[in-house]
Amino acid sequence: MPAPLRLAVLVGSTREGRFAPVVAQWIRDRAAARDDLRFDVDVVDLVETPLPTVFPAFGQPPAADSVALLAEVSPRLAAADAFVIVTPEYNHSFPAALKNAIDWHGPEWQAKPVGFVSYGGLSGGLRAVEQLRVVLAELHAVTVRDTVSFHGHWDKFDADGGAIDPAANDAADTMLDRLAWWAHALRDAKAAHPYAA
Ligand SMILES: Cc1cc2nc3c(=O)[nH]c(=O)nc-3n(C[C@H](O)[C@H](O)[C@H](O)COP(=O)(O)O)c2cc1C
Repeated sequence: MPAPLRLAVLVGSTREGRFAPVVAQWIRDRAAARDDLRFDVDVVDLVETPLPTVFPAFGQPPAADSVALLAEVSPRLAAADAFVIVTPEYNHSFPAALKNAIDWHGPEWQAKPVGFVSYGGLSGGLRAVEQLRVVLAELHAVTVRDTVSFHGHWDKFDADGGAIDPAANDAADTMLDRLAWWAHALRDAKAAHPYAA
């Protein structure tokens, strides 16, 4: 039997009073409940493990304090076989903290699948997701077609953090199915032929 899939759930909002933990906990629980897909889930929350925002000059190592912060995040992204990015929509795009986390990393993204759970106003964060696809293609990641989105997310979860609309659970299962397929396919392919970017 293949090893469990290591799934990193990256939480895109660091805003004070953010809604993000509700969405992140929901998809974490959905993924963990999928015994058939055997995800080993790690939630990477940029509030708990903030990243530096000043990049080193080309060819220079990060400053010592940056190295310490990166050490809390980078190995976890490197270990992941697949990602789910949880993102709200900020001004028709995704939050700056999320872009910062993406930009700090390169090989950690390569030849790995990325699924999305988005939320926001009328668009449900889908504009953020479409922009993330462009960014992640540059990093050799493979974004999954099927997404989960919550428009007007404020009243889409019950007091226990469950999704009120059963269609959201179905959408999550579809996204996780696709993500697992790609994660296995890419992990097997990389084992046979290392990915050379
Ligand atoms: C700076 C900022 C910009 C926003 N821009 C949009 C937007 O363009 N479209 C949208 O649907 N919602 C927008 N919103 C609403 C957010 O999607 C909503 O507040 C959501 O809860 C933010 O996620 P968070 O609470 O986890 O930070 C914006 C919110 C903020 C703080």
